[in-house]
Order: sequence, then C-alpha cells, then structure tokens
Amino acid sequence: MPASARHQVTFRNKNQVTGTFITFEGIDGSGKSTQLRLLANYLKQAGCDILLTREPGGTPVGNRLRAALLDAQEEVDPLTELLVFAADRAQHVRRVLRPALALGQVVFSDRYADATAAYQGAGRGFSPELISEIIQLATEGLKPDLTLLFDLSVDDSTTRTRRRTNGSQRGDRLDSENAEFHTRVREAYLQLAQREPERIKVIKTSQPLELTHERVKETVVPFLRSRGHVPHHEVETSSSEFSR
Ligand code: TMP
Repeated sequence: MPASARHQVTFRNKNQVTGTFITFEGIDGSGKSTQLRLLANYLKQAGCDILLTREPGGTPVGNRLRAALLDAQEEVDPLTELLVFAADRAQHVRRVLRPALALGQVVFSDRYADATAAYQGAGRGFSPELISEIIQLATEGLKPDLTLLFDLSVDDSTTRTRRRTNGSQRGDRLDSENAEFHTRVREAYLQLAQREPERIKVIKTSQPLELTHERVKETVVPFLRSRGHVPHHEVETSSSEFSR
C-alpha cells in the first residue's frame, strides 16, 4: 500500500468512530475481570455482540509483550515498562480498537490508558506530563466512551489475589509490588474518576458479586441502550454464573 493510501485509511478510521468503547479498570484483585465476564455474558444473552479485548495482550504481538512484562522473574526497568505498555497499546489501538469501532462494534477492554496513568504515573513516579505525552502517542487521542473503575481496599484486594495464587504471594510482577505501590495506584485511579466523573464510574466491589453485577448492569445497559446497541428487553442472569 502506498504511504498516501495508508494515511488515508488511518484518517478515515479516525473520523468514522461509530462503535462504543468501554474500559474496565481497577487495582489487581479488584474483581474487574470477573465483572467484565458476567456483564459480557449478560449482554450476549440480550443480543448485544461485544468484542472483548485486553491490555496488555489484545493482539498477537501484544500477548508476547504481556508475557515478558508480567513475568515475575524478569527485571524490567521502569522506563522500559512504560514504553512496552505503550507499544502494546499502539498495536492494540491501530490493529484492533479503531477498526472495530469504525465498524460500529461495542468493544470492552480489560484495562487501557488509565492503567498507565495509575501504575506508571502514580505507582512508578513518572511525571504527569510524560505520561500524557506517551498516552497521546500510543492512543492517537482515542478515549473510552465509558470507564468502570472497580474499587476495593488494598487489604481486601491482596486477600483476593492471594486466594487466586494459592495462598503464597501475589501472582505476576506487578501484582507482587508492595502495599504502598498498590495504595498509590488505587488513589490515582480514584483521582482520575474525580477529575472525569462523566466518563469514569466508580463501582465498589466489597459487596457480594451479585450486587456488584447489578450495579454494573445499571451503569452500562442504559448507556449502551442510549447508543442503540441493546434491544429493549431484559434478560435473566443465571445464578450458576456467580459460582467462580
Ligand atoms: P491484568 O492482571 O488486569 O491483566 O493486568 C496486568 C497488569 O499490568 C496489572 O498489574 C496492571 C499492569 N498494567 C500497567 O502497569 N500499565 C498499563 O498500562 C496496563 C495496561 C497494565
């Protein structure tokens, strides 16, 4: 493809975003991935087709970057970490997110750019200016239409992660950072939500799974319906869905 045509494609995609982009964020062990799965199953039954993706690892090359980034045995310099998350995101935005949104799809991503602001910004201490420059470079300005921030205390999230990793320690390289790190990340996420209350909705996950699921549905279903993605009938969620 000649360079001019390539630019045209990119340009056209950027101006034809008709789908809906929803992201799921929260500290490790906050319950976001479980809630994403429950919501996606519910919406599928309601006749809403959703593209499920994640960061890092929403593309084949991204999966390889994910394995390297999260390997607890790797010693990754913080600057390398920041740039590799950005590389994963650039591939994801250009090869998956923009094309899907241009086709009018609903896209749910398990993490996106807010994670870089929280983990590499507040967690690792990179300046807000550098973080927003890197995010802008990787996303080319693509922002979620809605973000659900799953919030839980660091103590409770650590208990959950330990349960998941058979009691010993937290799982991957970032999971195993100390409580101060996760506290900074959590606070940064909550500050982002305060700054952008229209886009970022905070959902407490200290309550039972079913109640959190109800809160999630109350937030997302009317939003999707208002954008013409969900038919106007309700669907029962099967109780077996809640046994993890
Ligand atoms: P996950 O366990 O939710 O799949 O996320 C993988 C880890 O990567 C999690 O500890 C958060 C971290 N992460 C960052 O530090 N920066 C980022 O930009 C992203 C997307 C994830």
